[in-house]
Amino acid sequence: MAALKFEGLAMTPPMGWNTWNTFASNINEKLVKETAEVLIANGMQKAGYKYIVIDDCWETMERDKNGNLVADPKKFPSGMKAMGDYLHKKGFKFGIHNCAGTKTCASYPGGRGHEFQDARLYASWGVDYLKYDWCFHGTANAQETYKTMSDAIRTAGRPIVFSLCEWGESKPWEWAKDIGHLWRTTGDIANCYACRRPWSMGWKIILDMQNGLEKYAGPDYWNDPDMLEVGNTGITLEESRAHFSLWCILAAPLMAGNDVRSMSNDIRDILTDKEVIAVDQDPLGKQGYRYYTDPGKEIWVKELSKNEWAVCVFNSSDKTSEVKVNWKDFYFFKGTYKVRDLWQKKNIGTTEKDFTGKVASHDVVLFRLSPVK
Ligand code: GLA
Repeated sequence: MAALKFEGLAMTPPMGWNTWNTFASNINEKLVKETAEVLIANGMQKAGYKYIVIDDCWETMERDKNGNLVADPKKFPSGMKAMGDYLHKKGFKFGIHNCAGTKTCASYPGGRGHEFQDARLYASWGVDYLKYDWCFHGTANAQETYKTMSDAIRTAGRPIVFSLCEWGESKPWEWAKDIGHLWRTTGDIANCYACRRPWSMGWKIILDMQNGLEKYAGPDYWNDPDMLEVGNTGITLEESRAHFSLWCILAAPLMAGNDVRSMSNDIRDILTDKEVIAVDQDPLGKQGYRYYTDPGKEIWVKELSKNEWAVCVFNSSDKTSEVKVNWKDFYFFKGTYKVRDLWQKKNIGTTEKDFTGKVASHDVVLFRLSPVK
């Protein structure tokens, strides 16, 4: 199949902020503008968060008489063209949400049968990123439906990152590479460590479902284990740090989903940590995988460019534990590496010496290894 998407728009995993996880339908122009200002002031924009994505519930309940989607005038009185202009002026990219079915999950008008018209409208508003959901799809075939929207975007002519939100139901990693830039691999993330809710689940459950998908991701085509719950209620600081670290190991899109206007400095420091983000954004674009597991302990590894590695030791038990890393166990290492503890910001020696240290429950130690010349 010929490549249909605009290529080269997501050579590293997209980073940004999305309204859904915290605000759901409670969104408006003021929230988006305040968030944009804060992302600039707190260093997040500079750290790479450049897409501001307005998720479900921005529309009116009906299309207009010409069949066009309409932004809710109460929530977005200046309209979406003005919203896009504002975000562009502030140095951001503009993202929006709609759905491949007849309605969005929150029952606003969906895109089915309107793909080409909607793509033209998004292009005219200056949209740079489209998250396309999968509610109310009836008997539609996912691959055909998403391909239609990808064609529509191409035809409208504005380069738009296409984010498939099909929840992994028909294994989009096997067919979506030419159609879109990222695809969800699971149902929705919830603001908890490992809870199961009717439509969502904690990040640890999603993490377990990513293992084995690593071969399907690379520059310009990413598995999406869903947006970040970092900093949200229901998650401890340790769990936020572990969630963020492991999403970086997965080369996951980093879409913050918290209220950045009121987050603590600790959470801001997690979200803006340059060295940890560099693991996610490494140009080699390899998704990491779980190399070792023991009850209560997992070791995840990610190959980086220049023969470097990221290694994440995750304490999945409910107690603080003493962890030992014997670097000789990593059969794929070549020679000796310098070891840096990324969260402690310390060089701790080389792989000649085993690591031992305490890790709190649901927390991680994250290392970057670089070859000794
Ligand atoms: C689905 C998606 C979520 C969010 C909601 C909006 O559940 O998976 O990420 O976009 O729809 O209704």
